[in-house]
Amino acid sequence: MAGGSVLLNELHRKATRWDKIVDEIVRLEKKIFPKHESLARSFDDELKKKNSGLLYLEINGDVVGYVMYSCPSSLCAIITKLAVKENHRRQGHGEALLKASIEKCRSKGIHRVSLHVDPSRTSAMHLYKKLGFQIDTLVKGYYSSDRDAYRMFIDFDKD
Ligand SMILES: CC(C)(COP(=O)(O)OP(=O)(O)OC[C@H]1O[C@@H](n2cnc3c(N)ncnc32)[C@H](O)[C@@H]1OP(=O)(O)O)[C@@H](O)C(=O)NCCC(=O)NCCS
Repeated sequence: MAGGSVLLNELHRKATRWDKIVDEIVRLEKKIFPKHESLARSFDDELKKKNSGLLYLEINGDVVGYVMYSCPSSLCAIITKLAVKENHRRQGHGEALLKASIEKCRSKGIHRVSLHVDPSRTSAMHLYKKLGFQIDTLVKGYYSSDRDAYRMFIDFDKD
């Protein structure tokens, strides 16, 4: 990774910088995702849910990427968001965030991580496949009436 101090952090509920970090993420979220796919309006509430977690990447104090996940049960987790700021892409940050979130889930004893992705998101599709995610099924109209999603998953050994 080129230049600057790169930090991968977990956002804790009681973090003193909570408002600043969430503001920066909401700004990125609005820029990167279309309205119907964006969590911008509900980010704060999503994050406060007991079973959700967020890892973010800071370069020289600026948030440049984030991954959000939730664990609806003790056995499965869902990656609900992954994004990297446009001018910081293709430097390994997305992969580092995704791997770190998968490790978090593994360390909780989770057996399956799943996610939904618009098949036209080529970069994300490549990344998920690179890390071993498989396509489960196509979910028609997942994002909107004319936008479908692949449900993808990765399973861990049960030992
Ligand atoms: C998907 C995303 C998070 C990837 O972040 P990134 O930091 O650029 O990704 P990385 O540099 O870590 O790349 C890791 C792998 O992803 C894949 N990838 C990333 N960008 C790609 C591109 N433009 N074309 C093809 N594959 C790509 C490759 O497999 C790459 O591995 P490689 O470098 O060995 O080829 C980023 O493109 C993004 O924020 N996109 C918009 C939001 C989005 O689509 N989020 C997912 C919604 S479910």
